[in-house]
Amino acid sequence: MHPSLTLVLAALPIITAALPLAGSPQPASRGIAVPIFKRSSLRVSLTIQHTFRKIENRMAVYEQNTGKQHPLAGGIKQLGERDTAWEPLSIDGHNELWYGSISIGTQADSFTVHFDTASSDLFVPFSGCGATCSGHKSYDPSANANSKALGMPFTLEFGDSTSVNGEQFSDVVSIAGLTAHTQTLGLATNYPYGFQMDHFSPDGVMGLGFESISVYNPTPPFQTLISEDALTSPVFGLKLASSGSELFLGGVNDTLFTGNITWVSLSTTSFWHAHFGLFSANGARVAGKRQAIFDTGTQQIIGNPLGIERLFARITGAMPAPQYGDGIYTIPCDFDTPISIWVGSKEVHISPASFNLGPVSEGSSNCTAGAAADSSLTGEFWILGDVFLQNVYTVWDAGNARMGFATLA
Ligand SMILES: *[C@@H]1O[C@H](CO)[C@@H](O)[C@H](O)[C@H]1NC(C)=O
Ligand SMILES: *[C@@H]1O[C@H](CO)[C@@H](O)[C@H](O)[C@H]1NC(C)=O
Ligand SMILES: *[C@@H]1O[C@H](CO)[C@@H](O)[C@H](O)[C@H]1NC(C)=O
Repeated sequence: MHPSLTLVLAALPIITAALPLAGSPQPASRGIAVPIFKRSSLRVSLTIQHTFRKIENRMAVYEQNTGKQHPLAGGIKQLGERDTAWEPLSIDGHNELWYGSISIGTQADSFTVHFDTASSDLFVPFSGCGATCSGHKSYDPSANANSKALGMPFTLEFGDSTSVNGEQFSDVVSIAGLTAHTQTLGLATNYPYGFQMDHFSPDGVMGLGFESISVYNPTPPFQTLISEDALTSPVFGLKLASSGSELFLGGVNDTLFTGNITWVSLSTTSFWHAHFGLFSANGARVAGKRQAIFDTGTQQIIGNPLGIERLFARITGAMPAPQYGDGIYTIPCDFDTPISIWVGSKEVHISPASFNLGPVSEGSSNCTAGAAADSSLTGEFWILGDVFLQNVYTVWDAGNARMGFATLA
């Protein structure tokens, strides 16, 4: 397995959640909304490789943590069987990421973090990080009375063979006034190119996946909130949209969806992954039952080459566009083909606007498509990123190991 740990990189705009001080009272009976934001961009080819490396690495971490192979490991080709060699990554693009604010330490310093449902570790820059972290907010353990060095280094390696290095600490972490009193976090002493301010505007990353894929391996922040009884219920809800996006902690915000929630059981508590059903374009079925990893850190829908080819065969004017990156397709910019994905008994319509990632170059009538192929995938699982997630209200129920889907209001 690949030894590196990869996180999706990006540049992002500004965030605004006001955060009460650490230690403020927990709410009695309802969830808490955290406004979240994103910025879109056309540089999607980078995301595919980063996504793949992140998923592959977390499967290796799962095996280390649990002693068992991840059940979806067969969905990734072994190195020898891969169609293409990895190209070195040149991380100079802007992807899109969802991010919001948290606070760390007794000083309750506020940090922006990318919320990533397909990883499980939290890190921000250490105050001694120096030039590579310049422009990002950094955390100074000596200014925070409760901070504790755990004596454990960490290394998060990346596809371009740079890495985030640092030390593990524990401290108070708060999000929207909900407090995890003892939370392991990484303080980075070095940020690689892709995390530097010009390329990645949040200060750090907060994984919303489960403990079994955590590199540090103590409980990730959301699980700590659960174990410390800070949440009304062990659930978060997500609305991802061009405006009014929200991470809702401790339940669902029922003003943001209509009708019933359709539930699908998770296959393991590692990634948020479950079976999904039919995938159709223009009314015709293009792929059968398989698993999906639901990933807020990925922009597109990513599948195996054959499955993706079948999807695009149903879309008039769609073309493979390897000149823009391995696995990329273009669609006519006036594309309006209906595409649906079934999760359990629920049909989620992918709006043409969300499937269209914009012109490949200014003024072009060819637009980047919202689905792409990764030749390292066998077809056992697909990765459903923003292009899927922004078309449905999602409920991430850790207590019952299931995901819910409801029609956006
Ligand atoms: C639910 O979402 C609405 C619309 O964004 C927002 O105004 C409201 O404050 C949210 N509910 C809670 C309990 O935060
Ligand atoms: C929601 O679920 C309830 C109870 O199962 C059912 O009676 C109702 O018809 C459902 N509503 C919709 C819109 O499917
Ligand atoms: C746009 O797509 C058409 C086919 O749909 C193709 O002939 C043309 O070369 C493409 N242009 C660009 C700039 O990729």
